[in-house]
Amino acid sequence: MSDFNFDAIEKNLEEEYKAIDSLDALEGFRLRYLGRKGIIAQLTSALPNFSLEERKVLGRRINSLKEKIEDFLKAKEAELKEALRLEKAKAVFDPGLPGIVQLRGYLHPITKMIEEICDVFVRMGFSVVEGPEIETEYNNFTGLNIALEHPSRDVFDTFYIKSHILNSKSEKLLLRSHTSPVQVRVMKAKKPPLAVVVPGKVYRPDAVDASHSFMFHQIEGFLVDKKVRFSDLKGVLYHFAKNIFGQKIKMRFRPHYFPFTEPSAEVDISCIICQGRGCSVCSQKGWLEILGCGMIHPQVFRNVGYEPSEVKGFAFGMGVERIVMLKYGINDIRLFFENDLRFLEQF
Ligand code: DAH
Repeated sequence: MSDFNFDAIEKNLEEEYKAIDSLDALEGFRLRYLGRKGIIAQLTSALPNFSLEERKVLGRRINSLKEKIEDFLKAKEAELKEALRLEKAKAVFDPGLPGIVQLRGYLHPITKMIEEICDVFVRMGFSVVEGPEIETEYNNFTGLNIALEHPSRDVFDTFYIKSHILNSKSEKLLLRSHTSPVQVRVMKAKKPPLAVVVPGKVYRPDAVDASHSFMFHQIEGFLVDKKVRFSDLKGVLYHFAKNIFGQKIKMRFRPHYFPFTEPSAEVDISCIICQGRGCSVCSQKGWLEILGCGMIHPQVFRNVGYEPSEVKGFAFGMGVERIVMLKYGINDIRLFFENDLRFLEQF
């Protein structure tokens, strides 16, 4: 038993333990005692030299020594880590240091404009509804009275999803090319009176340039009730334009064609840059086109199961990027999607 001077080992252990002042020193200590060739391993490998009785006694002491070392390691590690933490905290909380400036986040200008426009309509009693960006060919076209031979149905104008992927009713799927299909969805699901605005992303396979992007945002709006007149549409849109572009804005309706409205119109506002005098933004015309609109076509009502003789409604649709560009004098749509903070921080 003389080889095993436990008292001396423990005395050493305690002294060394007290002297540990870093995590590196702690690791050295651990290896010295618990490593593969450490003191515990040496003691254990000497055990076979002893009788069975002696081995039992020695084994127990070795074990309790090992436990003590493990407790030491744990305690020291916690102590050293806490000391490090406090040291770091002291540096952070030094009241003499200047404060850390918190950078402010910004909403994207498109998000802000969508919120601003929807708010104007919500205050008039409209509700906000969203629809899926992957649509059926029916909702995007047929339900909206866009005939099979209409050019915008062409694959070149719409991103079709591979023809073997169909929805549960075996319909062709596509990335919606406008937010108008949400009219079909809402009207199929609900009875009038309805007043809804629909913000969202739309997709068209356009080559990207200063005024085109394959993805952009639209806001659709529609209102259906028993008696709705074109003058109601004018009043609602006029209120919207004044709130977004300023009280002095002028507005005009030009006859136009959309398959899903009859009559249809395009709406211009007086140029917000030159107030109608003529400038490069309005191509010297004094007017800027901002949206399309009209009275909902009877065929659209029939398609959603409404009786056209009993209901009337108006609808409109606008491009959000275009409106933000006009409002802030931005001349390149790509700026919205490049996420350059120098651009985004200005809104
Ligand atoms: N969906 C049309 C487009 O993407 C915009 C539009 C025009 C929507 C007239 C309407 C509308 O609801 O009545 O070009």
